Amino acid sequence: SMGVDEAVTAFRAGSPVLIHDASDREGETDLVYPARAVRPDTVRRLRNDAGGLVCVAVADRVARQWDLPFIQEALNHPTTANRDLEYDERSSFSLTVNHHDTDTGITDEDRALTIPTLGTAAAAPENLDFPATFRAPGHVYLLRAAPDSLGDRQGHTELGIALAEMAELSPAVVVCEMLDDETGRARSPVSAKAYADRNDLQYVDGERLVEQFG
Ligand code: 5RP
Ligand code: ZN
Ligand code: CA
Repeated sequence: SMGVDEAVTAFRAGSPVLIHDASDREGETDLVYPARAVRPDTVRRLRNDAGGLVCVAVADRVARQWDLPFIQEALNHPTTANRDLEYDERSSFSLTVNHHDTDTGITDEDRALTIPTLGTAAAAPENLDFPATFRAPGHVYLLRAAPDSLGDRQGHTELGIALAEMAELSPAVVVCEMLDDETGRARSPVSAKAYADRNDLQYVDGERLVEQFG
């Protein structure tokens, strides 16, 4: 199904939702979960069925509380001066992190410690000593939503955070691009919808989320 209300209900129950941004943007569909709901089998599904980069997006107020920068502003390296991203004004990438109690950080079990810890802590970010809990660099990419969220930017970062807020969950979500195993490119909307139907998941268009959130 493709309605926003169904997507919000499913997401609130801890189910993943597929979010397509827009055909004139990345034209990608991300598999999105509440960060708090992530378990090892969730990480397995993200890497096997989605296949892109596993990232955790957090709301701007959470990023401020934890002092999470936009990485291109934090790095003093000449590559960060190349502001030539084609589909948006800027990237939402922040630091990469691992929970301190992880080993290598990349295993399903390790990421299923880092990610839900972020998800739970985002509900009350002021109660978390971030550097005492996480180290950087790590194996989970953090994404920082724009200050006015969808009012500023309509990436999966902001779309995912909007979905969490509509579902009244903590503002931290896992997003991962769905890639096509045959072509290696982004899965087409048709293919992503077929995956959603086969797995009884909700698929929602970013435009619909923007309309309903606004
Ligand atoms: C990180 C990305 C993804 O596209 C992710 O969806 C976040 O980016 P954006 O908010 O720009 O859509 O590139 O893997
Ligand atoms: Zn995206
Ligand atoms: Ca992308």
